Amino acid sequence: MCGIVGYVGFKEKKEILLDSLQELEYRGYDSAGMAVIQDDTIHHFKAIGKLSNLKDKTKDYQSQGFGISIGHTRWATHGKPTELNAHPHLGDYSYVVHNGIIENYQALKKSLQAKGVKFVSQTDTETIVHLFEDEHKTADSVFEAFTQTLDKLKGAYATLLISKADTQTIYFAKHGSPMLVGFEGDDIYFASSDTPIIGKATAVYYLEDGEYGYASKGKLHLFDAHGKKDFSTQVLCTDKVLAQKDGYRFFMEKEIYEQSTVMSDTMMGRVLDHSIVLDELDADFFQDIKAIKICACGTSYHSALTSAYLFERLSKIRCDIEIASEFRYKEPLLTPDTLFITISQSGETADTLEALKMAKRAGLKSLSICNVDNSSIVRESDTAILTRAGIEKGVASTKAFATQTMVLWILSLYIGQTKKTITQEILQKEIDAMLHIPKSLQVSDVLHEKLHRLSKRYLHGHGFFFIGRDIFYPLALEGALKLKEISYLHAEGYPAGEMKHGPIALADSELFTIALMPKSMHYEKIKSNVEELSARDATICAISPEPFALADDFIQTKYSFHPMVEFFEMMVVTQLFALEIAVRLGNDVDMPRNLAKSVTVE
Ligand code: M6R
Repeated sequence: MCGIVGYVGFKEKKEILLDSLQELEYRGYDSAGMAVIQDDTIHHFKAIGKLSNLKDKTKDYQSQGFGISIGHTRWATHGKPTELNAHPHLGDYSYVVHNGIIENYQALKKSLQAKGVKFVSQTDTETIVHLFEDEHKTADSVFEAFTQTLDKLKGAYATLLISKADTQTIYFAKHGSPMLVGFEGDDIYFASSDTPIIGKATAVYYLEDGEYGYASKGKLHLFDAHGKKDFSTQVLCTDKVLAQKDGYRFFMEKEIYEQSTVMSDTMMGRVLDHSIVLDELDADFFQDIKAIKICACGTSYHSALTSAYLFERLSKIRCDIEIASEFRYKEPLLTPDTLFITISQSGETADTLEALKMAKRAGLKSLSICNVDNSSIVRESDTAILTRAGIEKGVASTKAFATQTMVLWILSLYIGQTKKTITQEILQKEIDAMLHIPKSLQVSDVLHEKLHRLSKRYLHGHGFFFIGRDIFYPLALEGALKLKEISYLHAEGYPAGEMKHGPIALADSELFTIALMPKSMHYEKIKSNVEELSARDATICAISPEPFALADDFIQTKYSFHPMVEFFEMMVVTQLFALEIAVRLGNDVDMPRNLAKSVTVE
């Protein structure tokens, strides 16, 4: 969840690095850094916080003539956002930047420490540079030391290394994290996505996993497991917006597809094999807390509603959820043993921010769950847990909802683990389910195509009811909101058991019911609710792993042992369903009418 850039050539390197990092800042902005080697001299700079801080620090520096350079913008996973933890990490004479996670860094670090190597950061990345310098003591060349280093690393990474042992060359490797190489004349650029190099390079080579090598004046040497490799470049797109969409028609579509990978980022360093770690929280954070109150708006509110089931079920802690705009004027009774949580993608939503200020005035401890570091809500809160969804451009929120819900699930387990309200056996079952989520969020072509075909039957009618029970009720609310926002069709979310208390009066063939029917939770109950609607001739679109005879349309999801796995899979279905209907109706999916991405007014 970090951004990497590199440049080999004669141009002014600081400007190239800063400009490129600006494009990647959304991937991480708790610190940034750069290192430049020129005429056998290394210049390096690091700054915590936004990239503008690094700009300030480097304002008097300029590089001249040929040189090599690397830069990085960080989103903390191992170790807090400090200058020491910022990249590039340094050894005695080499610098490294890295994106991803080195799984065996602790073992490597231990063995290097046993040889007397001193570590200054808490990161996994620092291991790479010390390992390299250790290998270099006995290797025949810098490249041999670099490849020996790679042989010892386990995990996912993209990395760039420069060293005073070879001041003409950048060494690179990609294994599980994105990296590409751009070319323009003799200039060579590296980046973790193509937008930073658009306008600088004209040709590009997208590195494959397992590829590594080195770049020096105008020449890239590429290797893989079989040895030296030829490669051919492709023309680099010149339109940044188009490139940012990565070939998808809309940002919202791209963001739906991204959910699988961003969820891994959200979990990284927090969901371990047998335990939950939240570095953001002090050990005694929950000591005097007896209840939780959550305030949020829109999609974030739906994520909060989902979490109330988890907090009460897993953490055994009372949890109330309030729409922020209602909370503000209801003269709420607030007690100091209540933790006040705000959830916001943007961190700037006026109603949520004001609710937070009210809670603080009442002396409550506050925690925000947010996607934007340094946003108003994060700054106002005692503590924040960032969702790490990356920038979300589609006004209709998708990956923000997914990652918020994941953070809340993690938090509910963290409390359960801390307060011992769950056994190790239950914790393990939850962790196993969590680790399965990235896979269950992968969008298959078959599913997308099915929803595309199905969507043409849902362009009319007098309304949609999304129904579900338990955690699938907030998901029904969210499914309805997504459809409303981008299709402009009327849709409501309802608890399935509540239909017979009034709304069923609307049932006829022109009422579309989207039924969330997970098999792992209350299946028979929801089945009866849907049967009641079907008996009144409502058109039923059932989303379930279990074939349902009364469904007019049926979208089959996978069976799972855990409701949250079913939850996330059904979430993707409802998102794509809304998207495909909106596309058929010719609507502006990314910028729907009357809406704004960040609602900073009351
Ligand atoms: O930035 P926030 O999460 O605080 O925003 C809250 C709502 O405005 C937001 O979720 C809105 O409902 C989205 N358009 C939903 O797609």
